[in-house]
Amino acid sequence: MSNVIFDMGMSLDGFIAGPNAGPRNALGDGGMRIHRWVFDLESWRERQSLVGGQTNRDDEVSNETFARTGAYVMGRRMFDEGEVGWPDPPPFRAPVFVLTHHERKPWVRQGGTTFTFVTDGIESAIKQARAAAGDKDVRIAGGANTIQQFIKAGLLDELQIHLAPILLGDGVRLFDHPGTEQIELEKTRVIDSPRVTHLTFRVVKED
Ligand SMILES: NC(=O)c1ccc[n+]([C@@H]2O[C@H](COP(=O)([O-])OP(=O)(O)OC[C@H]3O[C@@H](n4cnc5c(N)ncnc54)[C@H](OP(=O)(O)O)[C@@H]3O)[C@@H](O)[C@H]2O)c1
Repeated sequence: MSNVIFDMGMSLDGFIAGPNAGPRNALGDGGMRIHRWVFDLESWRERQSLVGGQTNRDDEVSNETFARTGAYVMGRRMFDEGEVGWPDPPPFRAPVFVLTHHERKPWVRQGGTTFTFVTDGIESAIKQARAAAGDKDVRIAGGANTIQQFIKAGLLDELQIHLAPILLGDGVRLFDHPGTEQIELEKTRVIDSPRVTHLTFRVVKED
């Protein structure tokens, strides 16, 4: 049975992007520092069509997430940044469903990534993503607004946070409007490395 997951980089003070994020300033002011741990890894570089890179425990964690994901759901603001920044082929290599209020024809890229624009809400997006993912997992790719909706709707099964030892002080908070009173998490894994701490939680659901 496939799971619905998220896998996000976050600063120690809870931000997934710095202030003033947008297509000309992906991840906002200082936000790239959240992902500093990932840029030298072989798995990340390979997804950017680059060769070489480090193979270590961080790389295994990064690889794991790519390998298990069969489809992605993301918000329009994340997409807007990536539209101008992702290479072709983009790093996803799987169908991507973009939540938006603005209709647009699918955008087909190389390597198995087609961006499909979903204007009828998260339930529709997750249904389409599940169908596309088959036995693999659906990853809610971000940003915060999108993830918060999936949390509130009780649609997440697992979350992974890559906690970067940096303070941003301002920007886009992952858990700004939690509405999490009914959500219980079980910590299932902690992997620590010099540059980042990988935290994994399972969402405890009542039968
Ligand atoms: N640190 C990380 O790991 C990480 C990962 C991913 C993203 N990010 C960052 O997160 C930031 C973006 O996050 P964000 O919270 O500002 O925005 P977001 O979740 O990416 O996008 C929100 C937008 O998506 C559309 N949308 C969301 N839910 C919808 C629904 N149910 N129906 C229709 N449209 C819907 C709306 O746009 P419209 O109404 O305009 O269409 C909404 O304004 C970016 O800076 C990105 O770099 C960080």
